[in-house]
Amino acid sequence: MSNEMGIRGYNYVEFYTGSAKMWAYWFAKALSLKQTAYLGPETGVKDKVSYYFTKNNIKFIVTSAIRPTNYEVKSFVEKHGDGVKRWALEVDNVKHAYETAIKNGAIPSRMPKKYEDEFGFVEEAAIKLYDDAEIVFMNKDNYKGVFKPGFREPIMKINIETEDTGLMQVDHIVGNVRENEMDMWATYLNKSLGLETFLEFGPGDISTKYSALLSKVVRSKDKKVRNPINEPYEGVKKSQIEEYIDEYLGSGIQHVAITTDDILKTIAAMRKNGLEFLTNPPDTYYEMLKEKGWNITESIDELKRLGILCDLEGEGYLLQLFTKPVSDRPTFFFEIIQRCKGSEGFGQGNFQALFESIERDQVLRGNFDKN
Ligand code: FE2
Repeated sequence: MSNEMGIRGYNYVEFYTGSAKMWAYWFAKALSLKQTAYLGPETGVKDKVSYYFTKNNIKFIVTSAIRPTNYEVKSFVEKHGDGVKRWALEVDNVKHAYETAIKNGAIPSRMPKKYEDEFGFVEEAAIKLYDDAEIVFMNKDNYKGVFKPGFREPIMKINIETEDTGLMQVDHIVGNVRENEMDMWATYLNKSLGLETFLEFGPGDISTKYSALLSKVVRSKDKKVRNPINEPYEGVKKSQIEEYIDEYLGSGIQHVAITTDDILKTIAAMRKNGLEFLTNPPDTYYEMLKEKGWNITESIDELKRLGILCDLEGEGYLLQLFTKPVSDRPTFFFEIIQRCKGSEGFGQGNFQALFESIERDQVLRGNFDKN
């Protein structure tokens, strides 16, 4: 089915923000992404600015409204704060992918359209996702410009010293939805995109002493597109998913995971670039890791020094670490992940250590007690 859709994999992720220029500096410094293209008044667009960033296979756009008349960007940011508006899938044929998705129950957001300039054309269409997000189908086989029509070479120079993070590509994109919405969105993604449910976590699978959540992972058969969905589950305190829904004022994208081939180097570089990660797990976490005697190439002392989490599955293992929320509200964050020896999971073995760490931050924010 996913082949029938002609999905090639993730293309870009677009963030709507209060100040794209500030985010541009942050992308350049913290993630060592390269500014590749720009859209704004200088390129003929009067009411918004967009900075396009790339690194290896990563493609991020950060956009802000610069006129109150740009209601789409302005209203999104007013309601949700900075967050992910859309993620794009590169497809063989936009019209075909869109029409197949709609036939299978997807909610239309934007009809297929050709965007042209002197460098060729790009086709895009979009379907609705969660409260205010979109999944874009795009094809740029016939485009030779820097990114897509409207974008030009960057005008602003970012002269900033940064450590190379070695970040490679988007691994998965996670959504947080309200109670009783997870099954609906999992079915929606499976039907619309030809994905299938790969993992399911029910009541009791993901919980700490105080809070709980449910999760489903949907992915394409070729594993290039993976989209976990979380919903809160009853607990004595407020779960991180409830906190997200309360602070984001609705359902939306919780985190984007980015791969690296050398997480020790990546995390050391990102820490040097000033990025804040979730509090390191306790020493006992790494003592237990040593006792398990897993066949891990990396030194456990090095993992401990950098606060990196490790989870084994079958012959493979994964290494991962989560940033603190990156903007003003405790909503969106990044995950850095290295999949080793064919690992396909999402760090299930780390959920408890991870959520206890998030709960410590929730207490500081006064968002742990139910009100
Ligand atoms: Fe993740």
